[in-house]
Amino acid sequence: MKKLSVIGCGAWGMALAVHLAGLGHGVTVWAHSEEAAAELKKQRSMPAAFPGVEFPEYIRYTNSYETAVTGMDLIVFAVASPFTRKTAEAVRPFLADGQRIVIVTKGIEEETLMTQTEILREVLPECRIAALSGPTHAEEVIRRMPTAIVAASKDTELAEYVQDIFMAPYFRVYTSDDELGVELGGSLKNVIALASGMIDGMGDAFGDNMKAAMMTRGIHEMRGLATKMGAKEETLSGLSGIGDLIVTCMSMHSRNHRAGILIGQGKSCDEAMKEVGQVVEGYYSARSALGLARKYGASLPITEEVNRILFEGKSPRDAVVDLMLREKKPEMQFI
Ligand SMILES: NC(=O)c1ccc[n+]([C@@H]2O[C@H](COP(=O)([O-])OP(=O)(O)OC[C@H]3O[C@@H](n4cnc5c(N)ncnc54)[C@H](O)[C@@H]3O)[C@@H](O)[C@H]2O)c1
Repeated sequence: MKKLSVIGCGAWGMALAVHLAGLGHGVTVWAHSEEAAAELKKQRSMPAAFPGVEFPEYIRYTNSYETAVTGMDLIVFAVASPFTRKTAEAVRPFLADGQRIVIVTKGIEEETLMTQTEILREVLPECRIAALSGPTHAEEVIRRMPTAIVAASKDTELAEYVQDIFMAPYFRVYTSDDELGVELGGSLKNVIALASGMIDGMGDAFGDNMKAAMMTRGIHEMRGLATKMGAKEETLSGLSGIGDLIVTCMSMHSRNHRAGILIGQGKSCDEAMKEVGQVVEGYYSARSALGLARKYGASLPITEEVNRILFEGKSPRDAVVDLMLREKKPEMQFI
């Protein structure tokens, strides 16, 4: 049994805390406010995210950074991406050299264009860092529905350590040394999921053909950018690439997909974000993806149109027309 902490009490943080506690590990969850910690301790549930699910009583909750991270075998970072840097800065004084951390957050920081592990490595250079990513909706993981995921780190011993800790008969963990490819897959697919949701939201005018085209051309542009940045091409064909793209574009559990549907139905971007009510990572990653495309000379036509819809008020219908009317070209061009 290991001593573990989960930093962040959103849907994903809590699903993983329940999973790890169920495997017999001692789990402490850090909540971003005292009220949230007290509420979780009292209610032992999150009815909005997980109706009918009761959390084990032996999970501990705290709002103290020191209590959350001191003496832990592994720390699981699970705050939404806009909070990763400031949370890492806040825990830094309490971390031992060589502390093992795995981050499960997906997203690219807008100002720096850094992935989540790059942020942690910059803020916590003395720690060992891995990422855990894949097609893994919290709503299914918390109910022990079979799921597969990838533990990625340049530190292969750490990737295997994470694999050992999370592995269960209903939770299969693979390892990868392509941390960048795994993280880019998990972040860039959220932008494509917004686009795919918009196709669904526009109703009868666009059908399954257009959605299949959007997903396929989406993985094509994700792969194009990721390989230019130094990721392995095959990683984008794996669980954290095409696997996560499929689940995010097809599932109503995906908040990016749901936000896309609302925008496709004619809601403004602000209205859609409010109605979804949780952090829509694709909204943040859309601009960052464009920044990366410019930096590395990659072509991201779908991501460009999503940016025009989100930030310039372009209609999703006009965006699809413009994508269809782009210059003629062969299907496979970048490799
Ligand atoms: N929900 C899923 O099924 C799922 C699956 C895989 C990965 N993820 C990723 O995990 C990350 C978290 O997702 P989630 O579903 O738990 O999101 P959520 O919206 O349910 O939770 C948001 C998180 O941000 C934290 N937070 C809120 N305000 C904060 C503040 N002021 N300071 C610090 N932290 C604060 C909360 O503690 C919470 O952990 C995202 O990057 C998401 O893409 C989610």
